[in-house]
Amino acid sequence: MAKMWAGRTDGNTSKMADDFNSSIHFDKRMYKEDITGSMAHAAMLAKQGIITDAEADILIDGLDGILADIESGKLDFDPDSEDIHMFVEEVLTARVGEVGKKLHTARSRNDQVALDIRIYLRSEIDTITPKLKALISALADKAEEYKATIMPGYTHLQRAQPITFGHHLMAYAMMLLRDIDRLSDCRARMNYSPIGCCALAGTTYDTDRRFEAEKLGFDGICMNSLDGVSDRDFALELMSDISILMMHLSRFSEEIILWSSWEFKFVELSDAFTTGSSIMPQKKNPDMAELVRGKTGRVYGDMIALFTTLKSLPLAYNKDMQEDKESVFDAIDTVIACIDIFARMISSMKANEENMLAAAKGGFINATDLADYLVKRGLPFRSAYKISGGIVADCIRSGCVLDNYPLEKYKAASELIEDDVYEAISLKTCVEKRISEGGTSVASVEKQIAYVREQLK
Ligand code: ARG
Repeated sequence: MAKMWAGRTDGNTSKMADDFNSSIHFDKRMYKEDITGSMAHAAMLAKQGIITDAEADILIDGLDGILADIESGKLDFDPDSEDIHMFVEEVLTARVGEVGKKLHTARSRNDQVALDIRIYLRSEIDTITPKLKALISALADKAEEYKATIMPGYTHLQRAQPITFGHHLMAYAMMLLRDIDRLSDCRARMNYSPIGCCALAGTTYDTDRRFEAEKLGFDGICMNSLDGVSDRDFALELMSDISILMMHLSRFSEEIILWSSWEFKFVELSDAFTTGSSIMPQKKNPDMAELVRGKTGRVYGDMIALFTTLKSLPLAYNKDMQEDKESVFDAIDTVIACIDIFARMISSMKANEENMLAAAKGGFINATDLADYLVKRGLPFRSAYKISGGIVADCIRSGCVLDNYPLEKYKAASELIEDDVYEAISLKTCVEKRISEGGTSVASVEKQIAYVREQLK
């Protein structure tokens, strides 16, 4: 089919080449960005006297009509168009006639695609952020509900020290809060307009790039025209941020999967967010958490795909860069679906407090507190650590725990120990005394919840 860019060639490309070259089936999702970008461009051309005001009015009205018709479903995307930019221009010219051909003065499709994707990704960040906030807020609510629920805290997946479930949940809230921060940093760096780079070298027309940038909500313009059309670092940065966010959700998913197992039985997911097995009637599978964990690999793949595409590309635009969109769109769609499902899964999740407490009682997780008890009675920490370790070993030999280890035996291990030791090493005391900022005590967790809620405002 003959192309708008027919000139040097007759533009009669083979159907096979057209299909291979075409990106409309995925870049059509940037139709709004493309049209609003073109409106700003027409306005700039008129302001600078490059086209007349009357011509700009015709172009802008025409573009407005195309936008309305796409949104109402009256206008379908033409699968034979090369991409969304050509499609909009083709329809415009068909509708308004000759003046439509003036729109592309002082710009290039290389600028357009770099512009559209920036506007598009910027608005996706604005979509993701409130969703993440909703998830963090759901976490804060859960943490509030379970702020006094004692569970074992782990290192090396070995029971380490008692913590509260609320404390554990708030750890993820903090991580996700940083994810919001990263997205906002990314948005700020992305928000510079490439329009007017004119393919690569700038233009001889007296354009006003800053006027156009301001109209489109940018904070400024790309200061080097080659850079403006060549880089996709903003998309990589966004995918990196999304990958970190998915890594957080994946670790959380892994814990939810473990906690849902019969071996742990720490949490119960609601029926609405689990599945059954087609053969094993007893099963209740944490599929949503597993899928989030699995989709994390997919998002990393999207990110690596674009890194690899861009590696070694010479300046300026190369058609390879058309490959940026499917990866970044997929990463975004995936992360949005994961955040949405996660928020609901967390809100409806219940903790099994007895099992958490039972697990906390079994693993000598108050041994640090026994050592601290001795330190408070004058022993250096290393010596206290050694005595406590010996007591734990003796408990294991004699089949008891620190909480019911006989006082005579305690005294034999160290004459500093008195009968207040039992109070000092009770799980409740262990948790309650951890009042250091950021610690696991109810008071500390309450502060963390208040901090996070404040940040969400
Ligand atoms: N569809 C292209 C892309 O996504 C638009 C830019 C094409 N520019 C060009 N000179 N062929 O990257």
